[in-house]
Amino acid sequence: MSLTVSLADRINALEESATLGMTKKARELAAQGHKVISLSVGEPDFKTPKHICDAAKKAIDDGFHGYSPVAGYPDLRKAIADKLKRDNNIEWGPENIVVSTGAKHSLANVISTLVNPGEEVIIFSPYWVSYSEMVKLADGVSVVVDGAFDNNFKVTPEQFEAAITPKTKLVMFASPNNPTGSVYTEAELRAIGAIVAKHPNIYVMADEIYEYINFTEEGHFSIGSIPEIKNQVITVNGVAKGHAMTGWRIGFIAAAKWIADGVEKLQGQVTSGTNSIAQKAATVAFNGTLEEAYKMKDAYNRRRGLVVGLLREIPGFKVNMPDGAFYAFPDISAYFGKSDGTTTIKDSDDFSMWLLEGAFVATVAGSSFGAPNCIRISTAAADEQLIEACERIKAAVATLK
Ligand SMILES: Cc1ncc(COP(=O)(O)O)c(C=O)c1O
Repeated sequence: MSLTVSLADRINALEESATLGMTKKARELAAQGHKVISLSVGEPDFKTPKHICDAAKKAIDDGFHGYSPVAGYPDLRKAIADKLKRDNNIEWGPENIVVSTGAKHSLANVISTLVNPGEEVIIFSPYWVSYSEMVKLADGVSVVVDGAFDNNFKVTPEQFEAAITPKTKLVMFASPNNPTGSVYTEAELRAIGAIVAKHPNIYVMADEIYEYINFTEEGHFSIGSIPEIKNQVITVNGVAKGHAMTGWRIGFIAAAKWIADGVEKLQGQVTSGTNSIAQKAATVAFNGTLEEAYKMKDAYNRRRGLVVGLLREIPGFKVNMPDGAFYAFPDISAYFGKSDGTTTIKDSDDFSMWLLEGAFVATVAGSSFGAPNCIRISTAAADEQLIEACERIKAAVATLK
């Protein structure tokens, strides 16, 4: 019997998530008995802090088993409003906040809520893999603006301004950034904000999911705290990275009420309120101590020094020192056109696959992040694994001529 395959055009047009694709391939090789070091996934290697886990257990015992309000429990939205005031100097009330199933869901919700077919979304590149696909799903048009390697992969205010057209609806970026680890400074964000202020019909989506993993002396600055553009900024954040809670799936937006209401309307028809137990745990994460988050940050900080130091010893690799998040993003283009006698490396996709199949180190090709000269290496792993992975990479590239 033959099956008829008739996917909608919008699904046929979507790229597979590259990070999840590499992780799947790495698992397959590991299942065949190979000693794979998996540095492809964007996930803390720490456990969720105990006080947060205890809150989840208590929520089960206390009977939080039913549907929650679409935008989240009132105490969670209040905890997020308090967190925004405390950490980000952003003053929004609980009515401005919508909780969703991870920051990824929050980002997709906002794009679907704001972007009409044909409207443009400026994406600062390198960018997180899903941004451009989310825009595609909403029938929007991505306008990718490249941050230069020599400017720490950051887009300048001048580049941003030059990309604005009458069709621009939204600009989106993450700081700290995945995949580059770059952090936009307060001065840079104020300069971007001054341009946004001249365009009242343009909105900014500030993805702050790596907020607590910031190694700069200045620390994190939220563009949503600039009063002149407060109503134009949608701040997105969650618990995944800073609190080591990727699987709990809690993210949120904080925005002007009409945007929050629009997102709530969409979510009410598509998913409803997110997991009740995870919401109770997240309430404690937002209200509680950041001691554990800062301990994890210190570990990531140490590891970035370790990994960048080792990668810089590899001939041909160009590596910036990331200011945040837990990735190294070396430019490996010196090896394009080289061969180990069997495989010729054409691009970063080839390089990343060749490393996985030959050295059993899983990374992600930069092409899916809008940076085809680079690969992304997660530093969220034990020191020994990171050291061994860098040794394997160094030995592997030594065979390329
Ligand atoms: C830049 C960026 N934004 C958002 C997310 C998604 O976060 P969440 O797990 O809360 O959906 C990720 C996860 O990798 C990310 O790297």
